[in-house]
Amino acid sequence: MEYRILNNLSDEELSSLFTSVFSSSEGEQEGRLIGGLASQLAARVDDQEVICLGAYQDGSIIGAIFFTRLRFDEPVDTYMLSPVAVSTAHQGSRVGQALINFGLQELKRRSVSVVVTYGDPLYYSKVGFHALSEDVIQAPLDLSMPEGWLGQSLSGEAIPELKGRPVCVSEFDNPDYW
Ligand SMILES: CC(C)(COP(=O)(O)OP(=O)(O)OC[C@H]1O[C@@H](n2cnc3c(N)ncnc32)[C@H](O)[C@@H]1OP(=O)(O)O)[C@@H](O)C(=O)NCCC(=O)NCCS
Repeated sequence: MEYRILNNLSDEELSSLFTSVFSSSEGEQEGRLIGGLASQLAARVDDQEVICLGAYQDGSIIGAIFFTRLRFDEPVDTYMLSPVAVSTAHQGSRVGQALINFGLQELKRRSVSVVVTYGDPLYYSKVGFHALSEDVIQAPLDLSMPEGWLGQSLSGEAIPELKGRPVCVSEFDNPDYW
């Protein structure tokens, strides 16, 4: 297995990975929604605002994750992890955790302070995320499942309280994802 930061990637490859993974797990409509999101994010990867990392086996992509920047008034380097997909055939073999840990190490190397995500606390707690109160860090849009709002500090210090709603990349500025 090989884990890589993706710079020159094909939107179609990523969109088809996310569409098929989410169609299998959440149904076709969700598959189309998240496949479309992955395709938009892939088109904007610049390794700064939008970072994409992939897991490869025998030259084929079998998993991918995105980190996108959240901007606050304060200059605290913060990213959001989402979405995450591991191909159905390779799920449950630790590919997802290894890929996320690879990404977190890369962000730590870049001195990023905080990473947040929005998803299943049972899964993301395996890679260091904890429940995050919106009194500490607000989500960019209203959350339909506040218990899925999660965060972790990469700096070794507690997560700082950040005032105000952050601005997410425009691709996530859609209530359907929240
Ligand atoms: C969720 C997902 C990324 C996990 O990747 P993975 O490589 O299959 O998972 P790993 O092998 O790293 O981790 C397996 C562990 O996580 C648990 N797990 C896997 N998917 C889970 C889920 N959706 N919810 C809760 N726990 C989950 C497993 O029970 C297993 O637990 P164990 O370590 O105690 O045995 C992958 O299954 C996937 O792409 N699912 C469909 C899309 C999705 O739900 N994406 C996440 C939301 S953005």
